[in-house]
This record gives sequence, C-alpha cells and structure tokens, in this order.
Amino acid sequence: MVVAARLRTERLTLDPATPGDLDEIFEIARDKKSIEDFQHAAEGIQDVRAWFDPSLEDPLNLVWIIRKDGRAIGLFDLYFGAEYSQTADNVCRVGYFVSHREHRKGYATEALAAVADWVFSETAATRIEAGVTLRNTASFRVLERVGFVREKVAPGSWAWRGEVHDSAYYCLTKGSAAQAARNLG
Ligand SMILES: CC(C)(COP(=O)(O)OP(=O)(O)OC[C@H]1O[C@@H](n2cnc3c(N)ncnc32)[C@H](O)[C@@H]1OP(=O)(O)O)[C@@H](O)C(=O)NCCC(=O)NCCS
Repeated sequence: MVVAARLRTERLTLDPATPGDLDEIFEIARDKKSIEDFQHAAEGIQDVRAWFDPSLEDPLNLVWIIRKDGRAIGLFDLYFGAEYSQTADNVCRVGYFVSHREHRKGYATEALAAVADWVFSETAATRIEAGVTLRNTASFRVLERVGFVREKVAPGSWAWRGEVHDSAYYCLTKGSAAQAARNLG
C-alpha cells in the first residue's frame, strides 16, 4: 500500500489531504476560474468532500493540498491506474488545480515535478499519465515543462458543459524523468 508523504519544494509544501482541509479547498474550488477543466466549480462543501473521500478510503487514490506559506493554493490528485493507455501495472494518472489568484507563478509546475519525483523514487510506478483538454494551454504547458510527452490527441473525446472537446494525452516515464528534471533545474 502506498501512503502519500508530505512533499516540500523550494516554495511549496504538499500535504496529504485531510477532512480539515475541506473549507480552504472549497474557497478555491467555488470559483470556476480556479478549477475549470478539472471539475465543475464546487457549489457546496459536499462537492469537495466527494473528491476527498475516495482518497481517505481508497489506497489507490492520493490527494495533496498544495500550500504556500501554510495557506492552501490548490489541490493535487493522483490515482494508481491508467488515464488512457492499456497499461495495467505500475502506472498512475494525475490531475491538479491552482487558485486563479496564484496562476502563472510556476506553482503547478513545481508541484507536478515534486510529485513525479516522489512517484518514481517511492512507488513502483514507472509511468505517469495525464489527459487535458486540448484548449487548456496552461495545463499542457505544465506537463511539458516537467517533461511529459504528448502521445495522442483524441478528437471529440470529452463532453464538458454541454460541449464536446478534443483531449490531449501525455505521459512521463521513469527513464525520461531524470533527464527532464535536469533540464528544468
Ligand atoms: C493549469 C493550471 C494548474 C496551471 O497552474 P499555474 O500554476 O498557473 O502554472 P505555471 O505557473 O506552473 O505555468 C506553467 C506554464 O503554463 C503557462 N501558463 C499558465 N497559465 C497560462 C494561461 N492561462 N495561458 C497560457 N499559458 C499559461 C505558463 O506561462 C507556463 O508556461 P511556460 O513555462 O512556457 O512559461 C491552472 O491554470 C489551473 O488550475 N487551471 C484550472 C484547472 C485545470 O485546468 N487543471 C488541469 C486539468 S488537466
């Protein structure tokens, strides 16, 4: 069984989520500018609880709170299972959001790099997958900055708010991650 550890980066702390974090995350997730393309904006605390609860009971699902100077600025979700490939073992997928007040400061990139590093050093996973809306430049730039490679585009694969969108699918493998980390550093 894998247990999420507290992760530290140069500017951030990623803490395993607890029920005590619900209010802070709700304050971020109620604003669609902070969460669009990850989930629907949270209408109530129960929506946030629905994202947290699986991580409290399902050992395959890990959730971290991204903190800056002790204050929650976003959420990071990791699940031990494939996003889009047929890979059965040693694969996980990620999702994340950052408060719109903190966008474009490099925080998502920093958080993803830390989680990828932890996954490859502390778990058996050798492949991390992510799916993004093709229009979500911010998210796929985050992935690319950390070294993820776009493997495929699936036209019309995602229905969101009554519209159909194209998706881009990315992966990072253990072998390529070390080189990417050197490039990022
Ligand atoms: C995607 C998201 C997490 C990015 O967070 P962030 O902390 O602002 O990202 P970073 O500051 O690390 O930026 C990484 C790259 O994205 C670029 N970027 C950030 N916001 C952007 C925007 N709105 N438009 C275009 N590029 C953007 C940055 O310039 C940077 O690229 P560069 O290295 O080429 O300069 C954030 O926009 C968000 O939470 N969006 C809503 C939820 C979401 O879409 N989650 C992902 C679902 S898969």
